[in-house]
Amino acid sequence: MKLFTILLTTLALLSSRIAANVEKTIFLAPPAVHIPSDDPSTISNLKLNRLTPIPINQSSLHTLVPVSFPTTSHPKGTESWFLLWDLTPSQRYEVRICWAATQPTSFDLDTFTTSEISAIPSFTPYINSLLQSSPPKDVDLKTPHSYLFLRILAAADFYTTNTTLMSHPPPVIADIILDPFLLNALPRSLAPTAGYIIAIAIASWFLAGSINKTFTGLLASCSHEMEKEEEKKKTQ
Ligand SMILES: *[C@@H]1O[C@H](CO)[C@@H](O)[C@H](O)[C@H]1NC(C)=O
Ligand SMILES: *[C@@H]1O[C@H](CO)[C@@H](O)[C@H](O)[C@H]1NC(C)=O
Ligand SMILES: *[C@@H]1O[C@H](CO)[C@@H](O)[C@H](O)[C@H]1NC(C)=O
Repeated sequence: MKLFTILLTTLALLSSRIAANVEKTIFLAPPAVHIPSDDPSTISNLKLNRLTPIPINQSSLHTLVPVSFPTTSHPKGTESWFLLWDLTPSQRYEVRICWAATQPTSFDLDTFTTSEISAIPSFTPYINSLLQSSPPKDVDLKTPHSYLFLRILAAADFYTTNTTLMSHPPPVIADIILDPFLLNALPRSLAPTAGYIIAIAIASWFLAGSINKTFTGLLASCSHEMEKEEEKKKTQ
């Protein structure tokens, strides 16, 4: 029980330490659906930057995210869209965005299904600006797919007297990571850290035990010596 508490505390400390430059969203993958072939977002979604849970097929993206200062019409800044592709239905995932503290930014992450996306007025213009005439090549429209659209809102969060920077905040260098949860409980990329912490916790538990034993032994032999001394004194 004690071990478990130590473990949880360490994990909590660790994650709050990382949180300075991380924003994330956790979600369950939707059921697999057939891609509607007449939907404009169908063709276009393939022009979006894609993230898949398979590391070799791009589970993270090192990219420049455009930002702007909040305005009344865009209170959360500039939006960018990504496609979360090849998900496993009902599996828990998280998407994280990590960026350097030297580029103060406030990020807001949200995921949408195809049916939810129609309620987002900014999506279609964004998509239309990416549309090209070439049809999708690597997507099988006959089989159902579990996928989501990811929206990242990025607002610059600094102040400077430099007017160039204030009117054109530079894009933020960021890593966007799609991370499946193992057993729907622990993000995959955290598993090695958790394993390491568990190993250290177990090792220190045994170490504490043996240190205790050593000291208890020392104390015992010490008091034994003292008793002998006492007896010697008494007999003299
Ligand atoms: C990675 O994606 C390609 C197509 O983009 C596909 O042919 C391949 O099977 C995928 N790899 C895995 C491990 O799913
Ligand atoms: C404002 O920032 C830009 C970009 O970092 C830089 O090139 C420019 O020299 C700066 N202007 C002033 C007046 O410091
Ligand atoms: C240390 O060892 C002694 C005897 O071996 C035991 O009574 C005591 O509870 C141990 N202390 C801790 C903190 O484990």
